[in-house]
Amino acid sequence: MTSPVKLTIRRPDDWHVHLRDGAVMAGVLHWTARQFGRAIVMPNLSPPVTSVEAASRYRQRILEALPAGVDFTPLMVAYLTDASDPDELARGFAEKVFAAAKLYPAHATTGSAHGVTDIARIRPALERMAGIGMPLLVHGEVTDADIDVFDREAVFIKRTLAPLVRDLPELKVVFEHITTEEAAQFVLASGSNVAATITPQHLHINRNAMLVGGIRPHAYCLPVAKRENHRLALRKAATSGSAKFFLGTDTAPHRVETKEAACGCAGIFNAPFALESYVTVFDQEGALDRFEAFASENGPRFYGLPLNEGTVTLERAAVVVPDRFETGDIALVPFHAGETLGWRMAVQPSTSATGT
Ligand code: DOR
Ligand code: ZN
Repeated sequence: MTSPVKLTIRRPDDWHVHLRDGAVMAGVLHWTARQFGRAIVMPNLSPPVTSVEAASRYRQRILEALPAGVDFTPLMVAYLTDASDPDELARGFAEKVFAAAKLYPAHATTGSAHGVTDIARIRPALERMAGIGMPLLVHGEVTDADIDVFDREAVFIKRTLAPLVRDLPELKVVFEHITTEEAAQFVLASGSNVAATITPQHLHINRNAMLVGGIRPHAYCLPVAKRENHRLALRKAATSGSAKFFLGTDTAPHRVETKEAACGCAGIFNAPFALESYVTVFDQEGALDRFEAFASENGPRFYGLPLNEGTVTLERAAVVVPDRFETGDIALVPFHAGETLGWRMAVQPSTSATGT
């Protein structure tokens, strides 16, 4: 059987993006909006997006920065802090400003300084969310100095996530950007209220990509890429056909000078070739027939949102990823910089992005 040359799928969504704000947002937003009908927009701005008012204003700034004629819906997220008010979360969810709330353990990653110091402190917020069906999005890493950075996700499952899921069985939980075999197994073994996003980078690279032959800051993100067995487990999960796994790029742009530094920022800018990167993995795994569910169906079904209308078409053709993108005085290095991918987007998505 010859492999298909073109693959047309329902227009997908990105369930985890960092769009940033101001000039960086203006330079990166079009990459996400040209591929995806909707995106879950991370709230780790400075200051973080903690109130309904701040989320509404941020959403408005995103809509104003969109290229003309592009139909794209940003889905906003509340940033949880020790002081999160259950009433504010519930009001934002009821008013359809907040699609979800995000748990950043304090100091786990970029923009998490105001995060949660102890999950017990947000118990009232989590109970309210469970009651109203508001999803909790989790950055799943412990921050204890004595825990090796490569073990932080697995330890988080044992110490925090497993007890949480056991104690609040109604709570919808998205375990974001999973990086380990343990995480994939945990999600599979949990009820239908627990799902996970998987990034392109964690499907493509293991930790050697960061460390062999020199230190490569553009392969550094958090949670950090792990050993090869974990990458293989994630590829298996993503392409398994399980409805618990869906697309979330975690595209996280940082100016090149803040990546290529003595203390470089965590984050991989994968938005420009995100679909091409994912479909390459599904192709390599012989699972092109499962790509549409992962990219366009499992996410909205978990969130209880309609599937998008319209389609995107990918075609088998060589595409060279540029070494960098420049926008104003900002330079960004994309994931796969300098590589040739075997797929490219063929047809722009139709303008009808979301269903009713
Ligand atoms: O690599 C990362 N970058 N991981 C995160 O959790 C945050 C993100 C960012 O905001 O740059
Ligand atoms: Zn993220």
